[in-house]
Amino acid sequence: MIKHLVVLSLFALSAFGAKPLVCTNGFTLINNKCLRLFSTPLGHSASKSKCMEYGATLVTVKNAIENNSVSKIAASSSSSLWIGLYCFDSDVTKCMWDDSTGSAEMYNSFASGFPHVDIGKCVYHFTQGFLGGKWLNGDCDTETRAFVCELTETLEDSCEYNYNGHCYSFHQPATFAQAQVICEQECGNLASIHSSNENRYLSSIISSLSNKNYYIGASWPSTSVLTWLDGSTSDYNNISPSSAHEGNCALLSSQEQWLSSPCTSSQPFVCKRSVGSQCFSTPPLVTITPTPPNPSSCNSTLLMAPGKITSPNFPSNYGNNQFCSYHLSTLGSYRVALYFLTFTTEFFFDFVVVYDGDSASSPKMGNYSGSKNPFALTSTGNNMFVTFKSDHSNTFQGFDARFQSSV
Ligand SMILES: *[C@@H]1O[C@H](CO)[C@@H](O)[C@H](O)[C@H]1NC(C)=O
Ligand SMILES: *[C@@H]1O[C@H](CO)[C@@H](O)[C@H](O)[C@H]1NC(C)=O
Ligand SMILES: *[C@@H]1O[C@H](CO)[C@@H](O)[C@H](O)[C@H]1NC(C)=O
Repeated sequence: MIKHLVVLSLFALSAFGAKPLVCTNGFTLINNKCLRLFSTPLGHSASKSKCMEYGATLVTVKNAIENNSVSKIAASSSSSLWIGLYCFDSDVTKCMWDDSTGSAEMYNSFASGFPHVDIGKCVYHFTQGFLGGKWLNGDCDTETRAFVCELTETLEDSCEYNYNGHCYSFHQPATFAQAQVICEQECGNLASIHSSNENRYLSSIISSLSNKNYYIGASWPSTSVLTWLDGSTSDYNNISPSSAHEGNCALLSSQEQWLSSPCTSSQPFVCKRSVGSQCFSTPPLVTITPTPPNPSSCNSTLLMAPGKITSPNFPSNYGNNQFCSYHLSTLGSYRVALYFLTFTTEFFFDFVVVYDGDSASSPKMGNYSGSKNPFALTSTGNNMFVTFKSDHSNTFQGFDARFQSSV
């Protein structure tokens, strides 16, 4: 038995990369949940908003242990607390958790005679006396109560903004392409956003800063298409319905909505990286075999995602009569997503061609020249093939692109 426990705990340690789970923003870890008591009474929707400033939600209570945690955090200071449950009718199966996990049918602690929506549709947890630990209904609009927020735990990291396994940093204005390069120096990317909680968390930080609109890592060629530079799935957006599509890049505003911007305009920006990822800010001291530098990856054999390709000599101009090919690949069921951050070649004479496959005989996805805003392409399979060809005269800066695995 003891042997099993040791093996199990070793497994648990390696599964979490041996980093302790932590709660940020003054939340406390109680029975594996990050909770924080707000003892100043507020209406139900104001309570929810307060939680969301931290990227948190009103607490959900799925079992007796969690029910006990709520009573415990309230201690003797608050006699009742809003929880994240809303009843559409006086029937437990019609009382739904805010985190969209369904109804309270599986576990509830309603006092007898409850739920009772004639009194109110919102639910609070009573902490004292014979009703201690029981839930009652309260009017969402007129009653004010203390409340408990629940935040997803994260891993330990010394960064200032640590949320749900990621560190965020906020920077002074740069163009979209420059911003991504700076984020990469921090081992991250321009931020992708995947939930309304994450969105609210970031915009509430922005509202405390002096700038109000920040680049996020989206390529946004048209109102209906939005892809993330870090290769993550586009599963959430908060595009402002009222703002015109003024450019291919997206800004997160302090009002939570996403606005468009020309990618060449200089804007502050948000970077995102995984917690605990280490970045070498200085190159390693010992180089064993000096390899000829080929930062462009021109003509290298096979490039696995994630990676970077550029035209020869970038950011300086490429030469005349150059030809380069780049074979980009990813494993398993992923696809290759390629993002051109900078693109400027001699219009109609120096071309970049992208193929949906592993060679120049695969179907052509595009043939590009001239100056272009950042744009993105995604292959249908594991491979993408890119060629660059310049003619005998007139050279430009060329291109700088990133590729990632994409679902
Ligand atoms: C909820 O917690 C309180 C306090 O710990 C306890 O008295 C009550 O019985 C619990 N309810 C349920 C259904 O477990
Ligand atoms: C890349 O390879 C092609 C032949 O496949 C060659 O013509 C070209 O000069 C090479 N480019 C560079 C920059 O070495
Ligand atoms: C790309 O377009 C140019 C101009 O239309 C054309 O000359 C060139 O052959 C094209 N390249 C490929 C590989 O299709």
